[in-house]
This record gives sequence, C-alpha cells and structure tokens, in this order.
Amino acid sequence: MASEPQKIHKHILYEASVQDTEVDLNLIDRMMEKSAGRKALTLREDFSGTSVLACAWVESDPQRESWGVDLHGPTLDWAREHRLPMLGNDAERVHLLEDNVLTAKTPLVDVVAALNFSYMIFKQRDQLKSYFQSVYNSLTPGGIFLLDMFGGPHAQEVMKEKKRVPAGEDYEGTPFPEFTYVWEQAEYNAVTQDIICHIHFRGKNIVPIKKAFSYEWRLWSLMEITDILREVGFADVDPYFEGWDDETESTDGDLQIREKYENMLAWICYISAAKGMN
Ligand SMILES: C[S@@+](CC[C@H](N)C(=O)[O-])C[C@H]1O[C@@H](n2cnc3c(N)ncnc32)[C@H](O)[C@@H]1O
Repeated sequence: MASEPQKIHKHILYEASVQDTEVDLNLIDRMMEKSAGRKALTLREDFSGTSVLACAWVESDPQRESWGVDLHGPTLDWAREHRLPMLGNDAERVHLLEDNVLTAKTPLVDVVAALNFSYMIFKQRDQLKSYFQSVYNSLTPGGIFLLDMFGGPHAQEVMKEKKRVPAGEDYEGTPFPEFTYVWEQAEYNAVTQDIICHIHFRGKNIVPIKKAFSYEWRLWSLMEITDILREVGFADVDPYFEGWDDETESTDGDLQIREKYENMLAWICYISAAKGMN
C-alpha cells in the first residue's frame, strides 16, 4: 500500500537541496590560510536564514564563535528552536541577530559569508557597494569575505531545472524521504538584469510546496562584483570554479582559483575577497 505523502518543513527541504556546510568550511580554511596564514576563529553568516553555517562553524572548533544576521524574525526563531538546541553548550557561541546586513553591528570577524546569491537582492550599484564596504569594515586584518554567484547563458533564460534529492536526515535528525527540488527562473529582464526565481519542492513522497521561496535579484556579472569588491578595498579577489570531468561529463568538485573558464551553459563559482594584512 502506498504511504501518505509527508509534510516536511520547507526549511528542511531547502537545506537538504542547496546547502553543504562541509564544502563551505573547507573552502574557508583554504582561503584564510592563503590570505592570513592562520585559521579563522570568528564568522558572520549574512542572510543567514536557518543559520546552519553559523552552527557548523562553532561545532567545527571549540574556539570558534559565530554571528548570524537575517531580517526575517520567524526564520531565526525556527533556527533557535530547531538548530541551536542540537549544539548543546556550543550554542552559547552562536549569536543570531534580526537585522539588516547593511546596518547590523557585530564585532570584527575573520570571515563574513554571504551564500546562495543572497546579496543579489541589492540591485543598485551604490547599495551593493555600501554592503561590500560594511563587510570590509567588519573584517579583521587578513580576513575574508566569501560569496557565490551563478552565470552562463542559461542563467539568463526563463527555465526550470530539477534535481532529485535522496532521502536523508536533517541537522536535527528528522528523516525526510526522496523528493525533487525545482529551481525556476521565471523572468529575466535583459535591460536591467533583473531576475525573478522560485524554489518549488515536489515528489510523490512529500506534500508539494509551490513557490516555497521566491527571489527578486539582479543577475550581477563576475567582473561587476570583482570591480566593486576591489573598489571598497579588498586586496585579492579570487574566483573558485570546479573543473570539468570528461568521463562523467559533469563538474569534478575540485574548486580552484581559475583565471580563465569556458563559458559553460551554466556555472556557479565561489568568490574569496581578502582584506590585506595592514
Ligand atoms: C537565499 S536565503 C539564504 C539562506 C542561507 N544563508 C543560504 O546560504 O542558503 C536569503 C535570506 O536573506 C534574508 N535577507 C534578505 N535581505 C536581507 C537583508 N537586507 N538583511 C538581512 N537579511 C536579509 C532573507 O530573510 C532570507 O532568509
């Protein structure tokens, strides 16, 4: 007999579909070693949502402390209820702030991370520059700003892309069945580079969630981002791209700084912006 579709919270489905804190932590260690020759101890996760990176940060080292900043109170409350308790006493080293990343005040940190393209909410150059400037001012000498971006011809197309997410357990140990993550690029305006995207979750095992998350962004280019980061003072701005595996005809998971990259139909890269040591 077929079982009833399960109602799984959208935050659990989101984290399982798009977040991988192990990859992020690994990359941050490499970037900080390159920039400052030491391990980073403090991290601010901007646009933190359920703040899983801020949680993984304190779990990765007893000396580490983190701040998560997000405008949306209910999402932070969900993190306080479902993510922080898993940390036990380590939760004392995570500080969640309901605030705007443009104005939030935190102590100086070694790392600021703004992942899953969240900064693209700033569509005006002055606004993005002011955000990058405030990040620069929040970093310790040699500190790094980690962000990501997507591009390639497919990024400008109205389209839907599906990914099967295998059954697993969330951070709290809640099991979820196999489901489908759908990334929809619903509108793209070639004049302004404005893009409207939605995330849907579906599959026979879960109660589907249409438009679980929606984003209105500007699709910035890598050189636009790089130029603004340099303008606000970042000494080194390095893009990390995965290589290509001819045998599997997919990316190989090997994130390296690359000066030149084939314009694949769709790509994602991480950017490390390092503050100089002086
Ligand atoms: C795409 S989610 C990012 C979640 C998670 N950090 C990740 O990497 O997947 C974007 C988050 O940014 C928050 N947000 C949007 N504008 C913001 C702002 N100006 N300041 C702080 N948070 C903001 C939203 O509330 C939402 O939780």
